[in-house]
Amino acid sequence: MLVRDKVVVVTGAAGGIGAALASRFAQEGAAGVVVSDVDGDGAAKVAASLGDKAISVRTDVTDAAQVAELVAATESAFGPVDLFCSNAGIATGIGIDAPAQAWAASWSVNVMAHAHAADAVLPSMLARGGGYLLQTVSAAGLLTCPGDAPYTATKHAALGLAEWLSMTYGTAGIRVSVLCPMGVRTNMLMPGIESGNASALAVAASAKILEPADVAETVVAGLADERFLILPHPDVAGMYAAKAADPDTWLSKMRHALGKQTGTPGTVAG
Ligand SMILES: NC(=O)c1ccc[n+]([C@@H]2O[C@H](COP(=O)([O-])OP(=O)(O)OC[C@H]3O[C@@H](n4cnc5c(N)ncnc54)[C@H](O)[C@@H]3O)[C@@H](O)[C@H]2O)c1
Repeated sequence: MLVRDKVVVVTGAAGGIGAALASRFAQEGAAGVVVSDVDGDGAAKVAASLGDKAISVRTDVTDAAQVAELVAATESAFGPVDLFCSNAGIATGIGIDAPAQAWAASWSVNVMAHAHAADAVLPSMLARGGGYLLQTVSAAGLLTCPGDAPYTATKHAALGLAEWLSMTYGTAGIRVSVLCPMGVRTNMLMPGIESGNASALAVAASAKILEPADVAETVVAGLADERFLILPHPDVAGMYAAKAADPDTWLSKMRHALGKQTGTPGTVAG
């Protein structure tokens, strides 16, 4: 899909990767860009910087009713949604001892929000014979993120949901992609690096930290190719293939690498 003349929604777009996607889509000539975030003021600032083809809508993506309202607001402003980027996400930096609240929040934001988004936009997309769902997952959804158990489990679940959506609706014209970066210079990662968090430091040691604009560049190319896996760090493809080919060897190498990087279990996938 080319973004030009399309109606696009981006969640989690008050900053970081989401703001970069919204900005890049506006540059590409989208017919309308809806900048959405639970941080309504932040979303409004981003939308204001993008000109008159952008609006902001405050949305908590964990609430299905609010996601449906986001789709309705988009339709009122610009017409039916062509591309819904379900990008909002949270990390916890906690292992298996994560409290129930952290697990529940991770499931709500990192998994259920994608389900709410698909449920809200698919009826209109299917009626029109096409549409595009982009889910921001993470390399953690393909590999693992040992410093953050809820993040790893929920990003893997998000990948599974995206595969299911693609398999189920692909023949009806629905395209699905997953965006799976390693480290990106955003508020999700950088404060952890600055405070010496072991997980964040391991991400930093694992691959080059990309700028959000670099990620947006890769997304535009991936959407144009209608590729399922969009990998801003291309090496992730080889890591994913190696894991699939021999999980025991891959896990053994991961344990060794993590021990060397952090001295303790830590994150590598972002
Ligand atoms: N930064 C990285 O290294 C990295 C790597 C891989 C994947 N990702 C993924 O990229 C996506 C964007 O993260 P980012 O790095 O730009 O971080 P970020 O923290 O800058 O942006 C996340 C945005 O999501 C919003 N958000 C959180 N909960 C929400 C909710 N309930 N409803 C609506 N919005 C909500 C936040 O307000 C924030 O603006 C996430 O899904 C994240 O998991 C990030």
